[in-house]
Amino acid sequence: MPENILDTLRTNLPPLLFRILVDTGRIASTLGLKAYGVGGFVRDALSGRKNLDLDVVIEGECYPVVDALSKRYPFKRVIRHERFLTAELYIDGHRMDIATTRKEAYPAPSLPEVRPATLMEDLLRRDFTINTLAVCLDPERLGRVVDLCGGLEDLRAGLVRVLHRDSFREDPVRIPRAVRFAVRFDFSIEEETHRLMLNAIREGAPARASGRRMLDELINIFKEEKRLQIIERLFKIGFFHTLNEEFNDNTHTLSILRRTETLLKWYRSTEREKIEEWFVYFLSLTDGLSLQALREFSRWLNVGGKRRLLSMERRDNAIDALESIEKEPYDRVKIYETFSSCPLELLVYLSARGSSVAESAIRLYIEELKDVRPLLTGRELKQLGLKEGPRMGEILKCIFREKLKGRLRTVEEELSFARSLLEKG
Ligand code: CTP
Repeated sequence: MPENILDTLRTNLPPLLFRILVDTGRIASTLGLKAYGVGGFVRDALSGRKNLDLDVVIEGECYPVVDALSKRYPFKRVIRHERFLTAELYIDGHRMDIATTRKEAYPAPSLPEVRPATLMEDLLRRDFTINTLAVCLDPERLGRVVDLCGGLEDLRAGLVRVLHRDSFREDPVRIPRAVRFAVRFDFSIEEETHRLMLNAIREGAPARASGRRMLDELINIFKEEKRLQIIERLFKIGFFHTLNEEFNDNTHTLSILRRTETLLKWYRSTEREKIEEWFVYFLSLTDGLSLQALREFSRWLNVGGKRRLLSMERRDNAIDALESIEKEPYDRVKIYETFSSCPLELLVYLSARGSSVAESAIRLYIEELKDVRPLLTGRELKQLGLKEGPRMGEILKCIFREKLKGRLRTVEEELSFARSLLEKG
């Protein structure tokens, strides 16, 4: 592996990002500070993978460098989190994180306090050796790799290894992260690390983590290409079961997740409104949980959001309604009425778990029925001599139902249907 990754970064990064990165080092240097690139993008540059998420740390203080950079480049947004000694800079659709090298002190378990620290201390608080690799950005050593914790050797050997025995206990979100990296890179989890991970699970550490951070990690997993393998391994080591005892039947859950992948591909191909794909996976993952367990689990994770809560609350009723649709799959009005109050995420999940009849009914709803609207309006009905009021509402409803059945394609057809209803009185 190269000891200097300047050329790799020049090749992999868009020219503007590369320029900003080099300038960050130069600016820091003129201010008497030292800048380093750290984490994922260094790890990935060393193993020939593209990664545009730039993470930079400044030994000393990051804000003078952030200020100087903001004067030189037209960042769209610069967000400072002074309590955490970090800043996010957005430019040209890219994000760069700059932080003061720091360590966490814990006055109370829920309130980590962040204090400035040396680069070494900053790296030592991280999760795995492969994520502790840094690259010098100061002009004299530009591009030189800094390996203070044995990251290079583990990267070469394909090993995910924690830095200390309490790593998983202190931050149980690292358990799914370890599995995610191992599967993503086709690495092994180093033996002792694996043992520590299983111990932490046995002790029930995952349930003591911050739910919100755990949700962010679950979302990261759902976004991975090999999400199914990651989830399968997490089931195998009992991770989900410690989060909720009702996580049991992984074979069934995995087969729903597999179908979910296919159905999301189909949904994307319809080019309809964007949906929260991670949440469809979430619904599939939690398929085996009772509504009560799902409520508890999602409250802990802080899932929130009106549409998501609605999906969860509607889940069981929608499953029951689907069974009755399976008996009468050609009743288009009923299909519409059953699904019109369901968020699309819930529908895609339902089609992944249901029979082929259920799936076709949901596809029919999404591709056709969902967008059915009468072409006639109240104004045109008035021209037929109808007054505003309940009768008008009834007629519009009749037109709508006819259209759901696939009849009345043109305005003329709707008009003559309305006339026939009026004549009947
Ligand atoms: N980190 C950690 N413990 C966590 C989460 C993150 O120590 N629970 C550290 C890791 O060292 C990581 C850095 O914070 O390198 C940045 O986190 P993140 O952006 O999530 O990690 P990446 O390695 O960039 O992950 P990805 O490739 O998935 O973006």
